[in-house]
Amino acid sequence: MINIYSEQEIKEISKSGKILAEVFQIIKKEIKTGVSLKQLDEIAFQITNELGATSAFLGYKPEGAREPYQASICASVNNVIVHGFPTDRKVKSGDILKIDFGVNYKGFYSDAAFTAMVGRAPNESAKNLVKAAQKALEQAIKRIKPGNHIGDIGAAIEAVAKKYKVKVIKGLTGHGIGYKLHEDPIIYNYGNKGEGFKIKAGMVFAVEPMFAEKSEDIIQLKDESWATRDGSLSAHFEHTIAVTSDGSRVLTL
Ligand code: MF3
Ligand code: CO
Repeated sequence: MINIYSEQEIKEISKSGKILAEVFQIIKKEIKTGVSLKQLDEIAFQITNELGATSAFLGYKPEGAREPYQASICASVNNVIVHGFPTDRKVKSGDILKIDFGVNYKGFYSDAAFTAMVGRAPNESAKNLVKAAQKALEQAIKRIKPGNHIGDIGAAIEAVAKKYKVKVIKGLTGHGIGYKLHEDPIIYNYGNKGEGFKIKAGMVFAVEPMFAEKSEDIIQLKDESWATRDGSLSAHFEHTIAVTSDGSRVLTL
């Protein structure tokens, strides 16, 4: 069942999203050569708490996982796409770092992610990949409005992937969000225009295109993160977006 949120509730989710955005602003400044993933996680933990919220990931058990997640953010480097654990590994020039973070503020959830290129980009292909994923999220957001179909979102993402000659990682998806981190519907990063259910005002989506350089094949690593099978780079961007009466509003800005 897809939840329809009232304006008041969307206001609450947007407070959660604003906290998330604030944490991201601070983290973005800290991402530089030599900082460890764990340090970034500690910063996120502290700032979130100072702002009166908690991480939606800390203690959360994703579907199929053996253990609840034991950090505030996910920090996924290079071939790792999502759910990377913030270890002592230090960030270095050329890294493609994905930070994913969810906030629970008074029982209202928001979720967002970005990809940062640390120092010098390793090559043109990496730059192209990151740009494609960012562009895909932008284009997807434009398709979110009442009367459009859920398939329009995936179609928009797939079209950008094609244009930039990168691969959609089809095995990982976006989701509804609000009272919980993961709600109906599943939001695929591929699809056909006009297909699927109609988008209605009051729905709230976490849209998250995930792209790889060469192949969409993925593997799950020992720490339960997901990585490209061929070891090539991946990129990921995500926003939490509410459907309004005449379009949509990004809540994680
Ligand atoms: N952000 C992830 C998703 O997009 C969820 C991470 S759950 C965690 O929906 F437990 F691994 F943190
Ligand atoms: Co998400």
